[in-house]
Amino acid sequence: MNSNRFKRQLVTAALPYANGPLHIGHLAGCYLPADIYVRYLRSKGEEVAFVCGSDEHGVAITIKARKEGIEPRQVVDRYHAQMRDSFAAFGIDFDIYGRTTDALHAETAQSFFKTLYDKGGFIEKTSEQYFDPEAQQFLADRYITGTCPVCSFERAYGDQCENCGSSLSPNDLINPKSALSGATPELRPTLNWYLPLDAMAPKIRSYIESRSGWKPTVIGQCRSWLDSGDGLQARSMTRDMDWGVPVPLPEAEGKVLYVWFDAPIGYISATRRLFPTDWERWWKDPETRLVHFIGKDNIVFHCIIFPGMLMEHGDYIVPDQVPANEFLNLEGDKISTSRNWAVWLHEYLEEFPDNQDALRYTLCASAPESKDNDFTWKDFQARNNNELVAVFGNFVNRVSVLIRSNFDGVVPALPAHPTERDAALFEVMETAGVQIGQSIEQYRFREALSVLMDLARAGNKYLAEEEPWKQLKTQPSRAAEVLGMGAVISAALAQWSAPFLPFAAARLRQAWGLEVWSWGEVARRAKTEVPGIRIDDPGLLFQKIDDAAIEAQKTKLDRRKAEMEAATAVDSAPSATLDFAPPKPAISFDDFGKMDLRVGRVLSAERVPKTDKLLKLEVDLGYERRTVVSGIAQHFEPEQLVGKSVTVLANLAPRTIKGIESQGMLLFAEDASGRLHLLEGEGGARPGSAIG
Ligand code: 2FM
Ligand code: ZN
Repeated sequence: MNSNRFKRQLVTAALPYANGPLHIGHLAGCYLPADIYVRYLRSKGEEVAFVCGSDEHGVAITIKARKEGIEPRQVVDRYHAQMRDSFAAFGIDFDIYGRTTDALHAETAQSFFKTLYDKGGFIEKTSEQYFDPEAQQFLADRYITGTCPVCSFERAYGDQCENCGSSLSPNDLINPKSALSGATPELRPTLNWYLPLDAMAPKIRSYIESRSGWKPTVIGQCRSWLDSGDGLQARSMTRDMDWGVPVPLPEAEGKVLYVWFDAPIGYISATRRLFPTDWERWWKDPETRLVHFIGKDNIVFHCIIFPGMLMEHGDYIVPDQVPANEFLNLEGDKISTSRNWAVWLHEYLEEFPDNQDALRYTLCASAPESKDNDFTWKDFQARNNNELVAVFGNFVNRVSVLIRSNFDGVVPALPAHPTERDAALFEVMETAGVQIGQSIEQYRFREALSVLMDLARAGNKYLAEEEPWKQLKTQPSRAAEVLGMGAVISAALAQWSAPFLPFAAARLRQAWGLEVWSWGEVARRAKTEVPGIRIDDPGLLFQKIDDAAIEAQKTKLDRRKAEMEAATAVDSAPSATLDFAPPKPAISFDDFGKMDLRVGRVLSAERVPKTDKLLKLEVDLGYERRTVVSGIAQHFEPEQLVGKSVTVLANLAPRTIKGIESQGMLLFAEDASGRLHLLEGEGGARPGSAIG
C-alpha cells in the first residue's frame, strides 16, 4: 500500500454549494465514501482529519438569491445550517464543517492569491466582457441569455444551452440580453488575472502521470483535458462581481476571486479553523497524504487547476488521491434540483426516522463507483429487507435472543475442540477483516460492503446448519458452543460494520458492552474477550420497510413528475432570474397565425387530488367548453378564478396530466418574483410582465 510513506491523512469532501438542500446524489457521490474511508482509518488508529464545509460564493448563490428576492447572505445562512444538520444526522462525521464566508477563509484565499501574484504567477489580461448599462455591472456568463447558435433555443445561458447541452461562451449567443435588466449588454474592457494553465501544462501532465492507483475514469478525464484540441487554456481567477472574496489588489476594486479559486482553498481555511496553531503540518509536510473525495463534475478543478495552484505557490503538498465517483440517477432519470427530481435528505429523515443506516447501506451497495448508477425505491426496499434485516439483523438477533433466553445473557465458551465447520467460520471472519480493509484502501466500498455482508451470511448459514434452537434440547453443550461462535462473529460485525452502518454498530456495541477495537485486532479480541460477557438486548438493528412506505415514495415522485410537466406546459415564461423576459426574436405572421388565442371564462376550478401545484378548470370558450389542467395552484385559490377571464391557447394539442385530458393552456403574467397574475382585476400584472 503506497500510503505507508505517509504519517497522516487529510481527507476532504467537496464543499457543496450552499444554494439548496442535500440529496442522495450528494451522499452517494462523495460524502458517504469519504466518511466510510475516514471511519476506517480512525479505527486503524491512523492520524486523520476530515474536512468539509459550505461553498458559499459564486453565481450559484447569487442566482438563487435573485430568484427568491433575498440577499446572498440569507441564502448561504439558510442552506449552510441545513446541510450541516443533514450531514450530522446521517453520521457524516467531519472534524470540521466550515464555510467560505468565514473571515479566516477570506484571509487565507487572499494571501494565497497574493503569493501567486507576487511570484508573477498570473497573467494580467484585459478582455471584452458583457456589461449591463442599466444595472451598471459586468455580467457573469449565467446572467446573459440569448439564442443558442447550435439549436436556436431562445433562453440559452452564456455558458451553456440547457436545451441542447452545448457549452457556450457569452459571445456565441445570438441576440444577447442581460438577465438582470433585460437590457442589451455592451462589450466593455475589463482587467482580470489569469492562471496560465497552458504554460503549466507540462508540469501538470507529469504530476498526473506520476500518480498511482487513480481510478481509470479520473485519469481518463484528466488526459482528455490535457490532450484536447487546444490543450489547457489560461483561465481567469478573478471575476467582476460583488459577491465573493475581494481580490487583494488596489487596482481590482469591485472584483472578487473566481469561486473555483477560493473554494478549494476552503479546505485549507477549514483546516486552519480546526487546528489554528499547527494546521501547516497538514498542508505543508510531504508526509501528509491529501485525499479529495469528489463527484466527477469536479475532476478538472481538483486534478488540474487546484494542483496547478498548489505547485505554483510552492509551499503546499499536492493531492495524492482523488477518488471521484460518477453520478447517481433516480428511478432512471438524472437527479435535478431545478426539476425537484431528487430524494432530499431532510425529507428522508422525516419519512424514515432512525433509519439512516438503511440509506447509507443502499447508497454504498449501489454507489456509482465506476459508472453512473440508478437509485430505485424498490431496490432500497429489497436491500433493506432482504439484506440488512434478513441477513445481518436476523443473524445478530437470533444469537442475541438465544443467549439471553437460555444462558442468562452470558456468552458461552467457544468449542474446546472446534469442528471443521467452526474452523471454517473463523477463517471467513479473519479474512473478512483483511479484505474489507484492503478494499476500502483501494476506494472499493461496494466490494468492502459485500465482504462484510458475506460474513453475516456465513454466520447465518452456520446457524442454519447447526440449528442451535434444536441442539438446546438434544445436545445443549453443542448449542452453547455454537452460540459462543455466533456471538464472536456478531462482535466482529459490530466493529467492522461501523464505517458503513455506524448507528446499528454503535447500538450493538453498547448493548453488548463492547468498546471500539482497533481494526486489525477485532478477530483476536472477539475470540478472547466475548465469551463470558453479559449481553443486553440491542433491539432490532434494522426495521423492515413495508410496501406502503415504498408506494408512498413512488407516488410522491410521480406527482412531482406530473407537476413538472404541467409547470413546463404553463411556464413558457422565462427564467425567474429575469425582471422581465427578454424580447424574443421576430417571428413571421404565419407563425403567429398558427396560435389560436382566445378569451375564456372560468366556470369552475378545483385542486387535482394528491398534487400541490395542479388545478383542474372548466373554461367556457363561447363556442365550447374545455377542461384545462394548469400548474397554478400555488398562485391562485380555486375560488379566486371562478368567473374570471383568462387567455387560453386553444389549439395546443391535448395532453393527459394525472389522468385528466388537458385541452389547452392558460396564459398568465409573471412578475419578477415569479408570481403569476391574472390580466384583470385587483393585484393585476404590472406593465412589462411576461405573458405566457
Ligand atoms: O460542485 C460543487 O458543488 C462545488 N461547490 C464543489 C466545490 S469543491 C471544492 F473545491 F471546494
Ligand atoms: Zn442549444
